[in-house]
Amino acid sequence: MPKIFVVGSYNTGLTIRVPRMPALGESLVGDSFDMGPGGKGSNQAIGAARLGADVRLLVCLGDDIFAKNALRLYQREGIGAALVHQIAGASSGIGFVNILPSGENWITVDLGANLLLTPQHVRDCAAEIHDSDILMTQLEIPLETAAAALRLAKENDTLTILNPAPAQHIEQACLADVDILTPNASEARILLGLPPDDRSSPADLARGLLGLGARQLVVTLGAEGALIASGEAMTHIPALPIQAVDVTGAGDSFNAALAVSLGAGASLEASVRYAVKAGAHTALRLGVIDGLPTAADLENLGRER
Ligand code: RIB
Repeated sequence: MPKIFVVGSYNTGLTIRVPRMPALGESLVGDSFDMGPGGKGSNQAIGAARLGADVRLLVCLGDDIFAKNALRLYQREGIGAALVHQIAGASSGIGFVNILPSGENWITVDLGANLLLTPQHVRDCAAEIHDSDILMTQLEIPLETAAAALRLAKENDTLTILNPAPAQHIEQACLADVDILTPNASEARILLGLPPDDRSSPADLARGLLGLGARQLVVTLGAEGALIASGEAMTHIPALPIQAVDVTGAGDSFNAALAVSLGAGASLEASVRYAVKAGAHTALRLGVIDGLPTAADLENLGRER
């Protein structure tokens, strides 16, 4: 059972299905409203726990009804509350998720209490981080906090995974503490300072990021699978042929499975294959938490396809 330490965010997702993207200034009618737990850090922690890892989650909540829901969720999912901070007077993070008929989405977030997670919170967990097999983090928390977690983990040679989402400029010194960087293509473009409509191929994006100092990369490509870039070698792992229902959280599910598989000693390629299956499982279901698989779910998915 790998020990995985997640430093990350919690957001409540307010989701509706919409027929298309609205035009600027338009009010568009959607349906199927759902309110449920989300946030990249929290999703990745729950995903890893469902796949059998021993998970610690360092996260900041507000002191509102959304925080109470999060605490109930962690109790249900077997994630200890010891490192779940509740900040008096703060609002918990909120995400507005719009889902298109294709299952694709766009998300806007107010990060609220997530922005109050500090490097000191991380330093207070040094012993637990050093005792972990893997440290995972994302960027719905202050960059300096994610950077502190990566630094601390590397002091003890704990394997680090940074899912750079939402993407922003990252200093080379911070990238040097990342063992595996897992952007999607649009995040890779932002990290490289390229315009959103840049037409570079995934392989070119990967080469660019390796040039910035990333050691190993897994670029997630949605319906195209994922690209592994390590040194000179590039390996494309195809996606499962699925009809996506809701891709929200599919990247989190991917990162969780990647970490669990690596933590169990599998190779990077085998772990990415496992992660692609986990992402597909999540994209086949509406909502994030219902779509996060157990190991048995992934075995069944393999048999069905
Ligand atoms: O990665 C998906 C997550 O990003 C959603 O759960 C949403 O809350 C946003 O944080």
